[in-house]
Amino acid sequence: MKGFRLGALICGLACLAAPACATPPVMRTSDANAQAAAKAARMQWFAAAKFGIFIHWGIYAVDGITESWSFFDGYISYADYMKQAKGFTASHYDPQAWADLIKASGAKYAVLTSKHHDGMALWDTKQGLNVVKDTPAHRDLVAPFVKALRKDGLKVGLYFSLIDWSSPLYPAFTHDQTRYQIKNDPSRWQRFVTYYQDQVHDLTRRFRPDLYWFDGGWEHTAEEWHAEVLHDWIRAHNPDAIINGRLPGFGDYGTPEQGVPITRPPDKYWELCLTMNNSWGWQPNDHHFKTPYEIIRILSDTLDMGGNLLLDIGPRADGTIPKTEADTLRQVGRWVTKNQEAIYGSRAGIPHDYYLGDSTLSKDHKTLYLFVDGKPGGAVLLKGLSNRVLVARVVGNGTMLSPRRLGATLGGAPALLAIDVPDYAIDPDVTVIALELDGPIKLFDPEKKSGS
Ligand code: GLC
Repeated sequence: MKGFRLGALICGLACLAAPACATPPVMRTSDANAQAAAKAARMQWFAAAKFGIFIHWGIYAVDGITESWSFFDGYISYADYMKQAKGFTASHYDPQAWADLIKASGAKYAVLTSKHHDGMALWDTKQGLNVVKDTPAHRDLVAPFVKALRKDGLKVGLYFSLIDWSSPLYPAFTHDQTRYQIKNDPSRWQRFVTYYQDQVHDLTRRFRPDLYWFDGGWEHTAEEWHAEVLHDWIRAHNPDAIINGRLPGFGDYGTPEQGVPITRPPDKYWELCLTMNNSWGWQPNDHHFKTPYEIIRILSDTLDMGGNLLLDIGPRADGTIPKTEADTLRQVGRWVTKNQEAIYGSRAGIPHDYYLGDSTLSKDHKTLYLFVDGKPGGAVLLKGLSNRVLVARVVGNGTMLSPRRLGATLGGAPALLAIDVPDYAIDPDVTVIALELDGPIKLFDPEKKSGS
């Protein structure tokens, strides 16, 4: 594929500081427009989905230890880590139950670890370790899950680690043991690149994922990974698929991890990936679970900033999902389902100078959704709304509200809007108020002294 490349853009920016950099290819406007239009089209479902479930499942669930890193970081020997393979049975794996639970959580997509950094793939790979030949599970675990997700109308994401610390072809083995240096054995590295890209081709042909969730790119450069070749291959063979931002130099969206952004991240599309406790995989000794309320707050904050939340669960080695996680998903699902009109397809909310809380806007910007945390001490207050409110109501509840204008206008600014919400309409987690406006939202701009 010719034309615009993020890598070229980065190179272009770097050229400002580094004159030695090669001249970036000139992008034709028509190419750029076509690529922007294609991206906008493929990102549609993702931007509307807002909520997805991440699943970290692998042999690390046998002993309940940290995925891959526990041997890389030297907390357990590689041999002992790999012994877990003998206990990975998937004996109670019920992919349809997983998909149904994900659907009940209100999520619109899921991302499963098809292969983590330890190299143990969950499907029947031609080469490398996989659960079909190397564990008593003895079957492909990806295919039935993909099928179940699609049956439930959910989009399919596959996590794939570029790193494979088990492969004899891969340079790094543990943090203090390296097999070789690429510069000393480029052909061995080339064989690794062929191996890992073949696996991505295989995933594509078998499952045609809607989303590729790459990880581990940090160990090598975009050039070393031959990332452009892989990117172009995916675009050619699965053109509607989304690629996350962890294939170095490429990707459709940003992936902040664990830390809830304080202000809106720079990427137009972004997704916060977040563990439910402090671990990605199942770790029975990690009891630091976020409560459903805390997850709902984080989700509403994410929505307010225009992003998606990818909430992680870690099934056990037998394929069962721990009760705390399943219960939390159902409780979050109650709230998401009730408030779905303020969530799916929503746009980022209004500045906190106007409303001291999270908010979202409908696609046409004619409905403002105010998220009210807990039980307010009195009326919910909103500043600077120039529109007339046609209807005010509690979302998912039907209670009609009667907003009041409070006090005088100042310097042409509209008066404060006060909205009383009766106790009986308050949600135990977060109440959402819909304000249907007389047109697209206009907030008074004190600088310009006008609605904008
Ligand atoms: C990090 C970790 C990995 C985890 C991932 C999820 O990249 O290396 O263990 O799977 O985050 O985002």
